[in-house]
Amino acid sequence: MARITAGIACSHIPVLGYAADQGKADEPPFKLAFDGFEWTRKWIAEEGRPDVVILVYNDHASAFDMNMIPTFAIGCAERFGIADEGFGPRPVPDVIGHPDLAWHIAQSLILDEFDMTIMNDMAVDHGLTVPLTMMFGAGVEAWPVRVVPLAVNVVTYPPPSGNRCWLLGEAIARAVASFDEDLKVHVWGTGGMSHQLQGPRAGLINRQWDNDFLDRLIGDTQALRHVQHIEYLREAGSEGIELVMWLIMRGALGRETRALHRHYHVPVSNSALGHLVLDPVDPTVPPSPTLEGNNEAAQAAIR
Ligand code: DHB
Ligand code: FE
Repeated sequence: MARITAGIACSHIPVLGYAADQGKADEPPFKLAFDGFEWTRKWIAEEGRPDVVILVYNDHASAFDMNMIPTFAIGCAERFGIADEGFGPRPVPDVIGHPDLAWHIAQSLILDEFDMTIMNDMAVDHGLTVPLTMMFGAGVEAWPVRVVPLAVNVVTYPPPSGNRCWLLGEAIARAVASFDEDLKVHVWGTGGMSHQLQGPRAGLINRQWDNDFLDRLIGDTQALRHVQHIEYLREAGSEGIELVMWLIMRGALGRETRALHRHYHVPVSNSALGHLVLDPVDPTVPPSPTLEGNNEAAQAAIR
């Protein structure tokens, strides 16, 4: 049986991908940002490495644009090419998928009433490749894991609610638990944290709110699922809304989590970098709210 062994949260600041590709990760101002991932790289190398990562991320007008805006899309392809974001594709390996697991998750989610868009051909951009670089380092010849990309629209209004994301995470946990192969699976939630790239508030950083958000992902609190879009925008900036993707990861981990590692760093660009490694202390798979009818919080939310 496949099982979720960890959740990881990580920003996807594009300049860090550039720094890694140019061999500058050990130089200021990038070093302090990368140093906070050393613990995770060592842990993954020694004990934490999964077979597959379900990588929740957002596309930045690379695979999607204003012509097509899926709220939730799952990558079911054998491999995913690296998008050209204007300067040529990053010099990193293609991302290898896990079509059997991805199709299984797609089927399970859709029958669980999440209407996923299925992608059989999709280039992936910095939203997906920068977290891979932070976790596996620069200059890898092949990524050491398979990846199921799960793209979320947080670019064009309206993004999904935090609670909808949390519920999707719970449904992902059910999907993974019903996959017959013995696989270790991570769920990564990426993007964020304080983050406003344009307008008079460009460069907004709210350390207090960001760290409070990190605190509230740990343990068994469910308070974050009810944070409204307007709070993300007000407190963390317009692109701070990317943080709803972290709730998909958190929802997939079950009721109780323990932080194995935490890192917060400002500034490396004009946004805040956050990183968290979470252990699912109680990996009990939540029941389906619709099929079993006994998940009260979820029932209330979908009513
Ligand atoms: C930055 C962060 C992003 O998430 C992004 O998509 C582009 C730029 C930044 O911090 O510079
Ligand atoms: Fe982004």
